Amino acid sequence: MDYILEMRNISKTFGEVQALRRVDFKVARGEIVGLLGDNGAGKSTLIKIVTGYHHPDPDGEMYFKQQKIEHLSVAQARRLGIETVYQERALADLQTLWRNIFMGREMTTQLGFLSVKKMRKETEKLMVGSMGFTSSAVIPDSVIKTFSGGEKQGVAIVRALHFDAELIILDEPTMGLSLSETKKLLSFVRDIKEADKSCIFIDHNVFHVYSVADRVVVLDRGAVAGELMTKDITLEQLMDKMYRVAQTGHLNGNGPDAA
Ligand SMILES: Nc1ncnc2c1ncn2[C@@H]1O[C@H](COP(=O)(O)OP(=O)(O)OP(=O)(O)O)[C@@H](O)[C@H]1O
Ligand SMILES: [Mg+2]
Repeated sequence: MDYILEMRNISKTFGEVQALRRVDFKVARGEIVGLLGDNGAGKSTLIKIVTGYHHPDPDGEMYFKQQKIEHLSVAQARRLGIETVYQERALADLQTLWRNIFMGREMTTQLGFLSVKKMRKETEKLMVGSMGFTSSAVIPDSVIKTFSGGEKQGVAIVRALHFDAELIILDEPTMGLSLSETKKLLSFVRDIKEADKSCIFIDHNVFHVYSVADRVVVLDRGAVAGELMTKDITLEQLMDKMYRVAQTGHLNGNGPDAA
């Protein structure tokens, strides 16, 4: 397997709280991994370690594309192609779509001037080709403020893919989205796989996770309770298993109805 991310024996303690205990976690290239677990299970903590925001306790090991990573910083994580899409902080609200796409990576002419024309044109291509914005109301000069939460995240995902992100992380991306926005967002997530890039997808809604993830990893009180391939299981079975995790702390607990 071509693993883009490998985490071994990752623990994280905040004072008295052990947020993660001996977590092993992997993401393959072109794979969407759903991360499930109750409130406080450690999902956000785990991805904050991947993005360099938190540092794990000393025993753990992390590899990105088979390279051992030590003292990962947020800047280094971004350089490696690890992108997090935040619903609220994804984009600059008062700026235009094209400026948002190229923010920090502006195209310039040979003389070093901004190539506004080129950036507008490229944005138009992305809008039609990748974002599926067919509405005539959306043009490269549209101001982001008018976009829905789902569209904003879609733009951020398209931007990340355009600039060769290797691993895109979404933590509760459907929170506060309408049904149709959620649908759109889930299709953006599938585009990540289509582009042969990887994704970690966190959502409390098991249905959302099931509908996009290749593999689901369940965390329970900071530990991995188990994992399974979505193709091997129905949504109902997955939901049953989630109830079992809540009761026993394991995916395959020996409850009366254990599989
Ligand atoms: N910076 C911090 N300082 C102290 N404790 C923290 C910190 N961040 C997280 N925790 C604790 O670690 C545990 C795991 O939190 P985390 O945010 O990772 O859970 P989560 O699975 O993302 O939950 P949710 O589904 O509610 O977002 C919780 O008990 C939380 O209170
Ligand atoms: Mg969280």
